[in-house]
Amino acid sequence: MSSNFGIEQLRLLEQQFERECTSVTDSRSLEDIRARYLSRKSGLLTSQLQNLGKLPAADRAEFGRVANQLKNRIELTLADLQHNIVQREKNAALESESLDVTLPGNTRRIGHRHPLTIVRKEIEDIFIAMGYTVEEGPEVETTYYNFDALNTPQAHPARDPRDTFYIADELVLRTHTSPVQIRTMEKMKPPVRIICPGKVFRRDAFDPTHSPMFHQVEGLLVDEGVTFSDMKGTLERFHKQFFGESTRTRLRPSFFPFTEPSAEVDISCVSCGGTGCRNCKGTGWIEVMGCGMVHTALFRNVGYDPQKYTGFAFGGGIERYAKLRYNVEDLQFYFQNDMRFLEQF
Ligand code: DAH
Repeated sequence: MSSNFGIEQLRLLEQQFERECTSVTDSRSLEDIRARYLSRKSGLLTSQLQNLGKLPAADRAEFGRVANQLKNRIELTLADLQHNIVQREKNAALESESLDVTLPGNTRRIGHRHPLTIVRKEIEDIFIAMGYTVEEGPEVETTYYNFDALNTPQAHPARDPRDTFYIADELVLRTHTSPVQIRTMEKMKPPVRIICPGKVFRRDAFDPTHSPMFHQVEGLLVDEGVTFSDMKGTLERFHKQFFGESTRTRLRPSFFPFTEPSAEVDISCVSCGGTGCRNCKGTGWIEVMGCGMVHTALFRNVGYDPQKYTGFAFGGGIERYAKLRYNVEDLQFYFQNDMRFLEQF
């Protein structure tokens, strides 16, 4: 055995270590190579050092020095590698876990307001701005509130069970929102300024212009000194606000048991502006609601003094307003809940 055999071995070991270092790319291969050279039991360098005793005594000091140098170099190299690997792994983690604040957020799919709800709220808002409050009443109503208190004669055709849904002898599905006029006046003293939107029911078969359930909005204003022209001005303002400032309003004489005098409200056609078209059947006008001065019989029924108070009332179909706003002719679209229709609003 030549005297520098041990040292030659160390040199080969160093070359081998340097070669292997080039394939160390992550923490795991780093720990592998550390164990292969330095592990206490079986490390390649460790076993060289254990051979120290087999060398001639003269060579031992030199071998020990070189072996310790190598050990230091290996440790330094491994520390360097470790530093680089830790840095690289941290950067990779930052890269893959980083939060890109410019990405679009997760939006929750929310629904759409039903067109009838949009129209109802818009009507409410216009009247609320004029100082009205929103009232509600029951959909199952007594014949007293639905007919009698509204001055509807016993023989009136609206009372016919072929037109009205009877729940019992004196209980119906309300045929209009007008009973809320009575309920409101019973519970508050003038001045009264309310509107009441809601469902109403009539025994009609479904077709493009009829539905057994539809929606109305009722209005009522009572105070001292309220005149017919107050009503006209209010309805004019409302329709200009809803359909646009160029909208004109006209009143035609009519009859309702609960108002005297009574009128139908027409607006200038929303399609042609009044010149006449298919939508208004060439007349230039479209009927939108009924109205009138509150009949003194109603005041007597609720205990208001008809000498002291006057008032006006009006009522119209919400579907009619929606139809004019959105140009949707066929009533079935409002009630079928077809998403392809509803998603357009
Ligand atoms: N209740 C009537 C209907 O269903 C509409 C109506 C007309 C309401 C005149 C009123 C009114 O308040 O004054 O056809």
